[in-house]
Amino acid sequence: MTTVPASSVPLSRLLLATAACVADVARGQSLSERLPQVEAALRPGTQALTFYVMRHWGMARALERLLVPKAPAPPVRALLHTTLALLQAPAGAAPPYPVHTLVSQAVEAAKASKPTRFAAGLVNACLRRYVQHSAALQAQALQDDEARWNHPGWWIRRLQADHPQRWERLLEGANLAAPMVLRVNRRRTDVPTYLALLADAGLGAQPWGRDGVLLDKPARVDDLPRFADGWCSVQDGSAQLAADILLHGRTDGSERRLLDACAAPGGKTAHLLERCDADLLALDVDARRAERIAQNLQRLGLSARVSVADAADTARWWDGRPFDAILLDAPCSASGIVRRHPDVRWLRRESDLEQLASTQARLLDALWPLLAPGGVLVYATCSVFVCEGEAAVQAFLRRHSNAQRGVAPGVILPGEGPLSGEFNDNPRSGYDGFFYARLEKSHA
Ligand SMILES: C[S@@+](CC[C@H](N)C(=O)[O-])C[C@H]1O[C@@H](n2cnc3c(N)ncnc32)[C@H](O)[C@@H]1O
Repeated sequence: MTTVPASSVPLSRLLLATAACVADVARGQSLSERLPQVEAALRPGTQALTFYVMRHWGMARALERLLVPKAPAPPVRALLHTTLALLQAPAGAAPPYPVHTLVSQAVEAAKASKPTRFAAGLVNACLRRYVQHSAALQAQALQDDEARWNHPGWWIRRLQADHPQRWERLLEGANLAAPMVLRVNRRRTDVPTYLALLADAGLGAQPWGRDGVLLDKPARVDDLPRFADGWCSVQDGSAQLAADILLHGRTDGSERRLLDACAAPGGKTAHLLERCDADLLALDVDARRAERIAQNLQRLGLSARVSVADAADTARWWDGRPFDAILLDAPCSASGIVRRHPDVRWLRRESDLEQLASTQARLLDALWPLLAPGGVLVYATCSVFVCEGEAAVQAFLRRHSNAQRGVAPGVILPGEGPLSGEFNDNPRSGYDGFFYARLEKSHA
């Protein structure tokens, strides 16, 4: 459930800052890019409110259409959406603020900003009308699937087709806050020692998988013991499975030639290096993101060769020596990590999936010849859409007769964990939505 942190900043200021972010998401900007631009004192509160709005935006938009006959100017619309979303509550919970406080602060916010001042009367009238008739307006809005599930219609239909037994739980789960999982750097410490340090710091946690701990509640990284010294990293439970799957059946600590083809910001690169003494090449096409690989490795006391390159353009970066193992954590829709990035559903277009599928196939086909006979390529996406997981792998297997499937979880649904098999022994709530396939190259 989303909790909104107490803040000393007046609510009207937070509402304006949130509405500005909401307006930019409506224009196509991601919150990962937008939130760092928010004034530092306002940032934590704005993030919490903006996340809340994203999780109720379908309903807020439907209500706005019912309340305002003609779409208002974008800044006014964003403030209305923000306030209407904050007036909603998940089942069994109360909205984050008392209704009358929120409405009067929204009107204050409208008056305090030039682009919305002219419409303060409209904001006041709409919100008061909503408060008076909320039950009837909500019932009317709920006839719209986007309002009912707070996801775009195409996304709902795709989940219905891809997960006919689970789509409702997936949509509901996408509006819950994600748990915080840490990965303990086994080169610096071990899970029992780190759990004791967390307990000393007043942070409850339980072991998670091989190297992880699941915190009872999210914490700031600055409050994590010895974070700056590289004793742990924040990494979701599903993401931590990449190293398990790639190194499965191999002796830990052996010198190996590894490629992490889409590596930034380096979470999985670091985990692999914490696990084995590999000669690892980490590639990413995005120079700015690639800088973060080196920064993360430095904090953790690890090293790899880091290069900025299009992994599929092998002629430009490959030295001709085969890799023993390749991790392809491919660019994808991020439909599995909507709990952590609640704006993603509103930013994606259905047409993006075709483009992403072609990039995923291009990367798979380009990297496969670089793998030594007997080697392993792990294909991963943080998506729950079949076209980016199972369908992509089935098509790949049809194109490459020297590839076989090895042990891997396949699709992992957020909050549920792998549906079957060997990787299914961990607490469920620590998992984001993911897809993993292990592709083994025959010796012949
Ligand atoms: C899912 S993220 C990788 C996350 C990373 N593996 C981790 O665990 O921290 C996908 C990455 O692929 C990169 N990327 C996209 N297309 C690429 C390409 N053609 N070649 C190399 N990297 C690419 C993106 O810049 C992005 O950093």
